[in-house]
Amino acid sequence: MPAYHEPVMKSEVLHYLNIHMEGVIVDGTLGDGGHTEFILKNTAPDIRVFAIDRDLSAIERARERLSPFRDRVTLAHGNLGDIKSLAAQNGITHIAGLLMDLGVSSPQLDTPGRGFSIQHDGPLDMRMDPSQKTSAAELLEKLSDIELMSIIKNFGEERYSKRIVRAIRKEQAERPITTTGQLSRLVARVVSSPRHSRIHPATRTFQALRIAVNDELEQLKSALQDVVGLLNSTARLVVISFHSLEDRIVKTFFRDEQKGCSCPPKIPQCICGRSQTLKIITRKPLVPSEDEVAQNPRSISAKLRVAERVYV
Ligand SMILES: C[S@@+](CC[C@H](N)C(=O)[O-])C[C@H]1O[C@@H](n2cnc3c(N)ncnc32)[C@H](O)[C@@H]1O
Repeated sequence: MPAYHEPVMKSEVLHYLNIHMEGVIVDGTLGDGGHTEFILKNTAPDIRVFAIDRDLSAIERARERLSPFRDRVTLAHGNLGDIKSLAAQNGITHIAGLLMDLGVSSPQLDTPGRGFSIQHDGPLDMRMDPSQKTSAAELLEKLSDIELMSIIKNFGEERYSKRIVRAIRKEQAERPITTTGQLSRLVARVVSSPRHSRIHPATRTFQALRIAVNDELEQLKSALQDVVGLLNSTARLVVISFHSLEDRIVKTFFRDEQKGCSCPPKIPQCICGRSQTLKIITRKPLVPSEDEVAQNPRSISAKLRVAERVYV
């Protein structure tokens, strides 16, 4: 069994959730349950956690780990984007806080059979939920050149998307691309990393495909939209993201919800009818300490943002 995922910035998460004596905290990305366990250990017995993950194997691992707290925790298999219906199905109408620790977990990355890793060869899969329809290999077959180029460019922030797609098509003309090794080698042949960089040249392509396979950005946007209606007054929304696309979505969402009215400034009277729903608590994102990065290098790109529900 791979080692448990190391939860990032867990003290900051607990501090900023600002949990009181009772209520339901939602962990929208349970993973191995490290954050949930830390929250349950450090809060009052009337605090419950409702936790979601789209990966059934993560839920099973976490269920075992969280068994000492079984009376205080409910686990659900599903997508962040369905947070509203998942909460409703479990009788939850109000929540006292939400954590989203986005991206993939260490067991997902370190299990070659899941197909997320550039380091280990495995099937080119990348589905967080293996019961989902389309794997990364199937996506490469199915998409047009333009669609694939746009995914690699936009979701991977990759300058050489055209070159990469050309190389993918050349390989596919000879044989299907079915493994992570095959894809990472072919990208490395046409894209070079800056000298002394430890980042593999295929990192951005892998990121782009993973985001597309799991529809990560749309899931995040709907989760943010839907959760606001569930938050109690002063409940906190804590989001940890690991790349700039996610962080931008969170930052823009917080800013818009703090502003409320979205009418153009020239209009003398508000016609959109929107009012402020969030107050930003962290003007700039928090990042892990040097000590944490030294102990857990995977935490290096974490950015944590916090907002608080307000009713005006
Ligand atoms: C970084 S890990 C979370 C680790 C966790 N905080 C811990 O302490 O172990 C992210 C987890 O979120 C899940 N996940 C990512 N996006 C999701 C989504 N849209 N819906 C549900 N689960 C998602 C992944 O399957 C993964 O298990």
